[in-house]
Amino acid sequence: MFDVVVIGGGPAGYVAAIRSSQLGMKTACIEEYTDSKNNPTFGGTCLNVGCIPSKALLDSSHRYHDARNHLKTHGIDIKNIDLDLSAMMKRKDDIVKKLTGGISGLFAANKVTPIAGRGKVIAGNKVKVTYANGDFEIIEAKNIIIASGSSPIEIDSAKFDNKNILDSTGALEISSVPETLGVVGAGVIGLELGSVWARLGSKVTVIEAMDDFLFMADKEIAKETLKDFKKQGLDIRLGCKLTSSKSLKDSVKISYETKGKSEEMKFDKLIVAVGRKPNSNDVFSEASGIKLDDRGFILVNEHCETDVSNIWAIGDVVRGPMLAHKGSEEGIMVAERIAGKHAEMNYDLVPSVIYTHPEIAWVGKNEQELKDESIEYKVGKFPFAASGRALAVDQSVGFVKLLSDAKTDTILGVHVFGPSAAEIVQQALISMEFGASSEDLGLTIFSHPTVSEALHEAALAVNNEAIHIGNKR
Ligand code: FAD
Ligand code: NAI
Repeated sequence: MFDVVVIGGGPAGYVAAIRSSQLGMKTACIEEYTDSKNNPTFGGTCLNVGCIPSKALLDSSHRYHDARNHLKTHGIDIKNIDLDLSAMMKRKDDIVKKLTGGISGLFAANKVTPIAGRGKVIAGNKVKVTYANGDFEIIEAKNIIIASGSSPIEIDSAKFDNKNILDSTGALEISSVPETLGVVGAGVIGLELGSVWARLGSKVTVIEAMDDFLFMADKEIAKETLKDFKKQGLDIRLGCKLTSSKSLKDSVKISYETKGKSEEMKFDKLIVAVGRKPNSNDVFSEASGIKLDDRGFILVNEHCETDVSNIWAIGDVVRGPMLAHKGSEEGIMVAERIAGKHAEMNYDLVPSVIYTHPEIAWVGKNEQELKDESIEYKVGKFPFAASGRALAVDQSVGFVKLLSDAKTDTILGVHVFGPSAAEIVQQALISMEFGASSEDLGLTIFSHPTVSEALHEAALAVNNEAIHIGNKR
């Protein structure tokens, strides 16, 4: 009998398993994804086909693009810059291997029992584990945590064929740079992976159904980033809904509707990134008593408890943003609550980052949300064009925008488009966790010269006290 059995070894599940074991509970983690020797491969979407391989390619493609286009202004003239795509892919694969192997090592060090198989919760706090050879076993557990994650959404108008019409996993594996690349969906994956292939030389067209670009971001940030992506060569077409596609021998023909008209295009490859759906199918039996919400996510309360006592669900398979750090923190909260601690998640402060160049990142509320909630606020903004460090590193695009409560000055949201946006937002987030005001950040000493000084100046700008820009008087 285990104290805790976790189904799924992604960033939500493996973190929950490690924390449970650290807290003295006998823990197992079941993962169906295995290597050629039938050993479970942990890390889930994030490590295997998500966050990590995409960031490896984002970094490599950025270096290639930089070397080709931006080093001359630094006085560096490199002749014959060649792309070795297979070496780039091998580097990515090696990083993935290292990290997934690292989790197995962490499990061994923390005494988590790894189980290779498919888990399914059945009635009476039991888990049925089906092994690759078809055999099965019933495991008993005092507590069960479901962390089965999510998968790419497949739409009827563009069925994946893993040859020309690719999901996000296929988009990380293309073996030669397509001359023309279509991307359906100008969301996070479309922008990140579209950028990778554009930097490597593809002519990229992004088809987005909505009229608004990055509807979840602050409108001003979205407007500025759209301008910059267009400058980078991404042909982003808003208000264009894909209606059909046909995979041919070495290309894909698509039709899309825009402003009541039908248009056609042809690409060498098509990436479809229109969102992800929870892996909630066949992870529990009806008799278990677990319920789904109307969008197919496992129904949980704010502590990730399902309707059945001692059964929990975390990560992409439950409501909230589909982000690795959100799932991991839920995993820690649940492990601690099982151990009798009173852990809570602060869902108001889950940061978002889009790892394009420059990065886009935010935390807390944006202006539209504050207006919708009739909260009065003040705005402080600082452009990277006025940051000495941003100019020195050739990254003076974008700005920091800080929103604070009009009465109390408490920071309500921070939105950044520009260099190291993710790290700058993280600094703001820490201050927000402690209930800081813009005045508090303004009174904090920031090292010079850093791009983080733009956050300091934006905080000062809230009260018209920024030093390196003109203030409203
Ligand atoms: P998953 O990572 O999906 O893991 C679930 C695991 O459960 C899988 O390993 C699966 O094999 C296993 N499983 C499922 N059902 C069963 C079963 N019945 N029995 C046993 N095992 C089972 N997020 C970020 O925060 N930052 C990023 O930069 C980022 N980049 C991304 C890039 C891409 C291309 C993609 C696709 C996603 C990205 N994400 C990113 C999202 C992130 O990967 C997910 O939010 C995160 O992996 C969710 O973690 P999870 O543990 O809930 O689920
Ligand atoms: P997404 O939800 O970010 O974007 C999907 C886009 O596709 C939307 O803008 C939507 O309007 C559009 N769309 C839907 N149907 C369409 C159609 N028929 N034609 C044209 N456009 C259509 O989803 P995405 O990019 O697939 O990413 C899934 C999730 O993975 C993200 O929401 C995020 O949670 C996670 N992720 C996070 C990353 C990060 O944190 N940096 C990186 C990559 C993924």
